Amino acid sequence: MTILVGLSGSLRHHSFNSGLLRAAVEEMPDGARLDIGSIADVPLYNGDVEAEGIPAAVIRLKDQVAAADGLLLVTPEYNNGIPGVFKNVIDWLSRPSSDIARIFGGKAVGVIGTSPGRFGTLSAQTAWLPVLRTLEADHWSGGRLVVSDASALFDGSGDLADGATRARLRKYLAGFVAHIQRT
Ligand code: FNR
Repeated sequence: MTILVGLSGSLRHHSFNSGLLRAAVEEMPDGARLDIGSIADVPLYNGDVEAEGIPAAVIRLKDQVAAADGLLLVTPEYNNGIPGVFKNVIDWLSRPSSDIARIFGGKAVGVIGTSPGRFGTLSAQTAWLPVLRTLEADHWSGGRLVVSDASALFDGSGDLADGATRARLRKYLAGFVAHIQRT
């Protein structure tokens, strides 16, 4: 069984990106599973807090990512970049730096996302690349899932209601999992 951990970078209750992540759980190929990791309890990074000990929510998430075969980042886009909430989580997961290789080293990472705008998180997805490179992760670039016009595709609860987008998601996940299983 290939196991992925997925993180949505939004704390919003009816988040489109969290809805995309839930849909991804449903659209995983046979022989693979996607577990949703929680970012809700991760505090703002503060070196003084770190000096007192890595917070429990961060330790839990680090161990979950370390144990997984791959990581799926479902990113919103703010001002053409990575939302601070999401970057903060990955920054915490990179602490202490001596542990980066255990969490991210060679880890297959896929980046997808959705926004109500026309460009569907294209800029935010690109902004993740230097971060993943720094962490020496294995960013999967064999597929791309940019979901624009989210308001028309998700229902009032933030669930993905569009069949064509589900088909694109299924194709992306099949390619990502096949990459992981090959390597
Ligand atoms: C946005 N939004 C946005 N959308 C986009 O496609 N490109 C952008 O640059 C921005 N910039 C931006 C800045 C800020 C501060 C906010 C709050 C929002 C809109 C954003 O995509 C929208 O709020 C989504 O609904 C956020 O994702 P979730 O929370 O639905 O997952």
